[in-house]
Amino acid sequence: MSSTPKPAKPPKVKSVPNHIAVVMDGNGRWAKARGLPRTAGHEAGEKALLDVVHGAIAIGVKELSAYAFSTENWRRTPEEVKFLLGFNRDVLRRRRDEMNDLGVKVRWVGKPGRLWKSVIDELEEAQELTKRNSVMTLNMCVNYGGRAEITDAMKAMAHDVRSKKLEPSAITEKTIEKYLYSPKMSDVDMFLRTSGEQRTSNFLPWQSVYAEMVFMDVLWPDVDRTTLWRAIEIYNERERRFGKA
Ligand code: FPP
Repeated sequence: MSSTPKPAKPPKVKSVPNHIAVVMDGNGRWAKARGLPRTAGHEAGEKALLDVVHGAIAIGVKELSAYAFSTENWRRTPEEVKFLLGFNRDVLRRRRDEMNDLGVKVRWVGKPGRLWKSVIDELEEAQELTKRNSVMTLNMCVNYGGRAEITDAMKAMAHDVRSKKLEPSAITEKTIEKYLYSPKMSDVDMFLRTSGEQRTSNFLPWQSVYAEMVFMDVLWPDVDRTTLWRAIEIYNERERRFGKA
């Protein structure tokens, strides 16, 4: 599986989204259309993600969040769950040096909960290796769910209120952000979902309140950097007002 940079240059756009969230949807349908098992679709998705990382760097994106395993994905068959967790672990191991060479800072965003220790170890290894990089941050969202994130934040805040570390009347939006899984995460500017589905599926709800939604009618394994660049061109056609008239 090669992720050799392609020669195509990124388009010139007025505004490059600082933070892009990606829902990598359509692996199962891609595999089904070829008479392959669903897992083959996920495998084909690895190359797509790597090419999107290359394309994001080339155009100047500073933060990319990939929804690699959601808290709801535990509802899939035990075989698929086992495959997805093992696959995440293997991709992290296989690709961490490439990420490091690209100057990518890998960060895990999600909760330990039922997540396998071997996956957590691999996420932490990649984080440690790449922690000084600054070209782009790649948030690997593994065992992530937006409601779980907000619920866990509320729980931790309630503990701090009980132990008098936090005064309820002093709670602001900034306070809540400090309790999220990744307080350093910036607001999402562009939310991209592939496969034609138009849902956010519990991905980064707090961070995406002013994100521009871009839905592309392409299955994730068919995605490459040019898909990302096209999405950024669509983003550039939007007018962002952030509540102003
Ligand atoms: C959505 O497709 C994909 C997932 C739930 C898994 C996350 C993405 C990957 C495994 C691809 C690359 C990930 C890494 C770590 C390189 P789906 O299974 O919901 O597809 P469907 O909607 O067509 O059934």
